[in-house]
This record gives sequence, C-alpha cells and structure tokens, in this order.
Amino acid sequence: MKILVTGAAGFIGSNLAEKLARAGETVVGLDNFNDYYDPAKKRANEARLNTYSNFRMVEADVRDRQRLFELFADEQFDAVAHLAALAGVRKAIEQPALYVDVDLNGTQNLMDAALAAGGIHNFVFASTSSVYGNTQQIPFVETDACDRPLQPYAAAKRAAEILGYSYHHLFGLNFTAVRFFTVYGPNGRPDMMAYLIADSITKGIEIPLYEGGQMWRDWTYVEDITDGIVLALNKPLGYELLNLGRGEPTLLRDFVEMIEELAGGKGNFVHKTKIAADVVYTYADISKARRLIGYDPKVSVIDGVTAFWRWYADKEANI
Ligand SMILES: NC(=O)c1ccc[n+]([C@@H]2O[C@H](COP(=O)([O-])OP(=O)(O)OC[C@H]3O[C@@H](n4cnc5c(N)ncnc54)[C@H](O)[C@@H]3O)[C@@H](O)[C@H]2O)c1
Repeated sequence: MKILVTGAAGFIGSNLAEKLARAGETVVGLDNFNDYYDPAKKRANEARLNTYSNFRMVEADVRDRQRLFELFADEQFDAVAHLAALAGVRKAIEQPALYVDVDLNGTQNLMDAALAAGGIHNFVFASTSSVYGNTQQIPFVETDACDRPLQPYAAAKRAAEILGYSYHHLFGLNFTAVRFFTVYGPNGRPDMMAYLIADSITKGIEIPLYEGGQMWRDWTYVEDITDGIVLALNKPLGYELLNLGRGEPTLLRDFVEMIEELAGGKGNFVHKTKIAADVVYTYADISKARRLIGYDPKVSVIDGVTAFWRWYADKEANI
C-alpha cells in the first residue's frame, strides 16, 4: 500500500510512519514542522524516518488546499492516516479559530483532495477521548452523543468526525475515526504529562499538578496505539468511531510515583485546581475496537512507563 501519514514528524505520526515503513509499505509523510514545541524534535524524527528508503517527507500545511490537491493527484495514495493537528487543550482555548482551521478545515481539505484524485480505500482520522467531555457514561463508549465538548480542540475534532460521516454518506469515503486516550512513550511530546514529570524530576523544573494528582487517565502506550491505527488502515469499515485506549485508568498520582521510582528522584510540583476544560476521568470501553479490527493493547502502564523512562534517560537527559 501507498500510505500518506500526516503529522509524520510528530510523536504518534513518526512512530506510526516508522512501523509502516518497517513493514515494507510505501510511506509519504506530511508535516509543517510548526513550533508548537521545539521543531528540532520533529527534525530528529524526520531524520530517523529518512533512513528508510520507502519513506519520504513532504513539508506542507494541511490548510494549503492547492498543495494537497497536487500531492494527491501526483501520488495516488491508497490510504491516509491523518494525524496532523494542533493538539494542545490549553492553547486551543487561546486560539480557537486556529484550532478549527487546522483540525477541522485541514481534515476537510485532505478528504476533498483524496476524492478529487479519484478516491482512496480508507481514511483514518486521529480523534481524541476529549470528545467525551464530562460524560456520565463511564467507561466512555462510542454510542455516547459527544455533543458537549469542553474546549475548541475537542469541538473541532468532533466536528471533523461528523463531517467524515457526510463524506462517507455522499461520496462513499471509508472513514474511521480512532479516538486516542492519553498516549505516552518514546519520542513523546514534551508538553505532555509523562515528559513534563521526567523533566521536573531531572531538571527541577516546576510543573503544575492538578487536583493533587487525583485525576484518572486511561494512559495508552504508543505501540498499542500505532498497532490500532495499522489495524484500522487495513480494514475499511464504511464509517466508524473507535476508542483506542488501554481500558484501565490509572490515577495521575500513581503515574507520577512510577516515574519518580524509576528516576530515583522527586518532581517539583505546584498544586493547582483543574481548569474548566479539564476532565477528572478518562476511561475507554475498547470492546468495539476489539470486535471490529482486533485491537488488543498489550503494554501495561508499568511496562510502558519503564520503556518511556529508559528512552527519556538515554536520549533526552543522557543519564
Ligand atoms: N498524544 C495524545 O495523547 C493524543 C490523544 C488524543 C489524540 N491525539 C491526536 O493524535 C494526533 C497526533 O498527536 P501527537 O501527540 O503525535 O502530536 P504532535 O504535535 O507530536 O504531532 C502532530 C504533528 O502535526 C503537525 N501539524 C500540526 N499542524 C499542521 C498543519 N497545519 N499542517 C501540517 N502538519 C501539521 C505538527 O507539526 C506535528 O508534527 C493528533 O491528531 C492529536 O490530536 C493525540
């Protein structure tokens, strides 16, 4: 298969592109290398991917419709894994128009470009557990209406899922939205909790700990997530929404203590109350993904955190 992976220079996208390239697929990555976090990290991911002869990176923006139309016409992709996005919940509150432009309009541009080039077998869209907002249905299940997103990032992702349905209904596009639950692991995003905790322990950087760590997250190891995306890519389903989580929430306080134990040190935390955009609980019901695509997360939180810490200590902190 020839697969376009958008957001390929990012955390999950680079892990996915590498997995696909290693499996022998022809992979084209697309990324705009923005400075939401240090672009040097994205260049390092690109350099790792460039060691595969069946991979190439295109530097482009998903808001550039013309460029996307030309790219799809030239390449004739079989499938798209659309991971490019602005993904910061707090930043989305400051810049809602930008988040809608990238996360919703960017998704529409890609679907339009795919259709204009004659269609593709499958479009897999990276969505988020944030679409569940403050749902009372726990564990989170795909039948939930998800019509009360707490911030513009979640609203844009939910809107893109819904637009995907229209494109499926009208134009026959196979569209699967995979909703990720708090992903962590090697090459992790520096603005996310696992990385922030490690930075705090090793460099003494002060970081906020909301609600004294009394928040639950369904932490999911990146290899399990990329396995789920590959399964979704290989199985066009018409139109589906699928949770990709671990199905086993962990208290933030316990997650912190796991990393502190591995690092042999303590984080420098400032206690804060959660903001209106934060949820206390995320917990995935993963039975639908198990049934429809054979998704089967394997990595326990302690094993995943250990692998994350080994990577951080070796590559990021040179310990
Ligand atoms: N990490 C998580 O826990 C998590 C949870 C739920 C959903 N997601 C989703 O998974 C996807 C990947 O997230 P990630 O954690 O790897 O984040 P990331 O920021 O590391 O990766 C996103 C990539 O998209 C690129 N990008 C952003 N705007 C772009 C644009 N306009 N044009 C082209 N490229 C652009 C960025 O440069 C970046 O490399 C995102 O769609 C995100 O919303 C992530």
